[in-house]
Amino acid sequence: MAKVQRSAFVCQSCGAVSTRWAGKCASCGEWNTIVEEAAAAQPPGTGLARAARGRVIPLEPLQGATEEAARIPTGLAELDRVTGGGIVPGSALLIGGEPGIGKSTLLLQLAASLARRGQRIIYFSGEEAAAQVRLRAERLGLAQAPVALAPETNLANILATLADGRPPDLVIVDSIQTLWVDGLESAPGTVGQVRAATQALVRFAKAERSALMLVGHVTKDGQIAGPKVIEHMVDTVLYFEGDRGHAYRILRAVKNRFGATDEIGVFEMATDGLREVANPSELFLGDRDGVSPGAAVFAGVEGTRPILVEIQALVAPSSLGTPRRAAVGWDSGRLAMILAVLEARCGVSFAQHDVYLNVAGGLKVAEPAADLAAAAALLSSLSGIALPSDRVFFGEISLSGAVRATAHMTTRLREAQKLGFKSAVLPQAGEIEEQGLKLSMSRVSHLKELAAALPACH
Ligand code: TYD
Ligand code: MG
Repeated sequence: MAKVQRSAFVCQSCGAVSTRWAGKCASCGEWNTIVEEAAAAQPPGTGLARAARGRVIPLEPLQGATEEAARIPTGLAELDRVTGGGIVPGSALLIGGEPGIGKSTLLLQLAASLARRGQRIIYFSGEEAAAQVRLRAERLGLAQAPVALAPETNLANILATLADGRPPDLVIVDSIQTLWVDGLESAPGTVGQVRAATQALVRFAKAERSALMLVGHVTKDGQIAGPKVIEHMVDTVLYFEGDRGHAYRILRAVKNRFGATDEIGVFEMATDGLREVANPSELFLGDRDGVSPGAAVFAGVEGTRPILVEIQALVAPSSLGTPRRAAVGWDSGRLAMILAVLEARCGVSFAQHDVYLNVAGGLKVAEPAADLAAAAALLSSLSGIALPSDRVFFGEISLSGAVRATAHMTTRLREAQKLGFKSAVLPQAGEIEEQGLKLSMSRVSHLKELAAALPACH
């Protein structure tokens, strides 16, 4: 009987496989992301038939001798912080981000920093020609660093190069979406190709104890497979984010088998590459005049590090039937919730007003603890009364209007005091180590108290 060539329809965004094409992926809900791929995309050796005749493997107890993972410090303190103290040999790390955010710049700086300290680094550039990478190195003042460079996209060639000579300490592949594997029919960048290439590279890294760093582009249109489809195959996943209109870049760990997640590294994109920002609060507070209504400073914590950031609100009479609500750097669902709570529990109506909320400096705030600062900014803008410029806010608001305790309350207060803030509005509940804290604290248990106190707080 003739073998029927079967094909699968794979969502390039989430990797879900279906038997027929559809405009919208049933799994992740993205539109236009489903692409036909040859069914042979399944990597060899994963078929059930092969697993049938296995050998018995020795089972081990949980307890036993373990060695602390050795680490290569990167020389970039912010990167060390995010990875949990440096790169672990034999581990695979994925760094995702939108095109143009600075992934290649970061990796070139990392490669140069390690190469200068005697490590063997190979940089496979699938996206840029050697001349382009050289140009960037020159611009960054790193052209002298002994990084081995190869513009290559064929996986077989890459593996052969890696097997030649002493195994490198670090292999960089920029980007995983440009690689192609012989024998797979689908185009480079499709889920099948990206997965097969990652699998082979990870296998090499584990066997030779080379660290592996893969660049993965995040794309909105889903034409190429996103980093999501290989997140489960690597040890560490970092996302590089930022707003292209701003110079700040944030490196965030979303998965880390060798350290904590939600630690962030802060960089600033300058003309001579990425600079580390050791004190991000000063950066995000920026120039504040302290007289305009609608600005409130949120004392946030990212990972273990406190970050103070200004939350700005603009509440203006609306001429529209359905007033506008927009949030930049904050979840718009969260904004809608705060507005609803203010209306239902505190009797403050925004129904006739357009509402805009912005997190200064291009930072994205995900902490629920920012609720109270956002509410303060909204109330301040609505009432036209500026908040004292030396006051910080934090606290999570529940649907009942109650202000809930948040984690790291003392850390937030200490950072605010360090930066010269004089007062704080924070939840009634929750423990604080008051030792050495000179800030005047007003503790609130319900959002109503904030709403009532606002006209008086000038
Ligand atoms: P790049 O690292 O190429 O981004 P990615 O690899 O994530 O696509 O850097 C992109 C941008 O950074 C580019 O638009 C120019 C800017 N840039 C600087 O501002 N300063 C610099 O020193 C460098 C190298 C780049
Ligand atoms: Mg790049």
